[in-house]
Amino acid sequence: MHIELRSDTFTKPTPAMREVIAGAEVGDDMVGEDPTVNALEARMAELLGKEAAVFNCSGTQSNQMAVWTHCRSGDELLIEATGHIANYEAGGPAALSGVSVRRIAGDFGRLDIEHLEGQLRRPDLHFPPTRLLCLENSTNLGGGRTYPLAQLQRVGDWARSNGLKLHLDGARLFNAAMARGDSPKQLAEPFDTVSVCFSKGLGCPMGSILIGSSEDMARARRARKLFGGALRQAGIPAAACLYAIEHHIRRLADDHANAKLFATEISSIPGIRVDVAAVETNLVFFEVDPTRGTAVELAEALRQRGVLLYPAGGVDRLRACTHLDVDREGVLTAAAALRACLAAGFKGIANARGGY
Ligand SMILES: Cc1ncc(COP(=O)(O)O)c(C=O)c1O
Repeated sequence: MHIELRSDTFTKPTPAMREVIAGAEVGDDMVGEDPTVNALEARMAELLGKEAAVFNCSGTQSNQMAVWTHCRSGDELLIEATGHIANYEAGGPAALSGVSVRRIAGDFGRLDIEHLEGQLRRPDLHFPPTRLLCLENSTNLGGGRTYPLAQLQRVGDWARSNGLKLHLDGARLFNAAMARGDSPKQLAEPFDTVSVCFSKGLGCPMGSILIGSSEDMARARRARKLFGGALRQAGIPAAACLYAIEHHIRRLADDHANAKLFATEISSIPGIRVDVAAVETNLVFFEVDPTRGTAVELAEALRQRGVLLYPAGGVDRLRACTHLDVDREGVLTAAAALRACLAAGFKGIANARGGY
């Protein structure tokens, strides 16, 4: 048995969730007749204070539906340099919507006016029209950081006053809400569209949702069909999502406490560098002193001691992610394994392979 800290996407449905899935009422969602999907879409639209929602397969699909909804071929979107849409969605904006991506260096994956000022292109035949601004909350590669509400409102006002549409990649929106004590509705308010994942911290086997105005969601539904993602008896996964909204949101606080505990435990390990104060949600990024070995080698050494986590870009960076399938004891065991790896040495270990 491994301690799984690679991602919250590795969670397995609980027995109670499986029971709800087994009893789900279903219909053909392609024609709007799956009652469980309809209930989920209505619930999420209400939770986020928007008119409508479209259930779909994945966070990537939600985000790409949003890009297609807001942009036309030849347009450009702005995003922080580490953003998922720019780096981890297989070139989706270019491939699916003909949209180019401009990455802007921000602060732990977050953008503020100071980063955005001067990034808009003036109307000119030479330039792609800048159409859309995408933010991420909580950030992933940015370090699991969250936005203060005032910053979201400030950036939202800036985007609107410059004629931009605004999309939020809220794959871990409920983590952000939990960390800041804001409501999902408050976090969603500045945005035209918001994507939320059920298959991460909420522990569902699959599913994501895009939320926004009725007009935008009609267009997003067309994108879902165009991208081959229209669904049939999707009440089966949707039932798990409804269950997770009721039972798996409040417990995200445990994941955040466990992430903080892990960071605190490893902060005293010689050769490991971690900013404990920067751990806001369920993601812990840390660096290994490269003279002791690479992040990839350290991940392999940990695997051999029963702990799984991802190398996270660069030669020295790793990521640990807490979730509902790892408890306090697991986190303490993982930290002890990391201490043992550093003490024993791992440079040149066999089988080291790439990561996230
Ligand atoms: C911030 C963020 N957005 C989007 C996604 C994409 O989700 P999926 O893997 O379901 O496509 C992820 C996945 O890790 C993510 O971390």
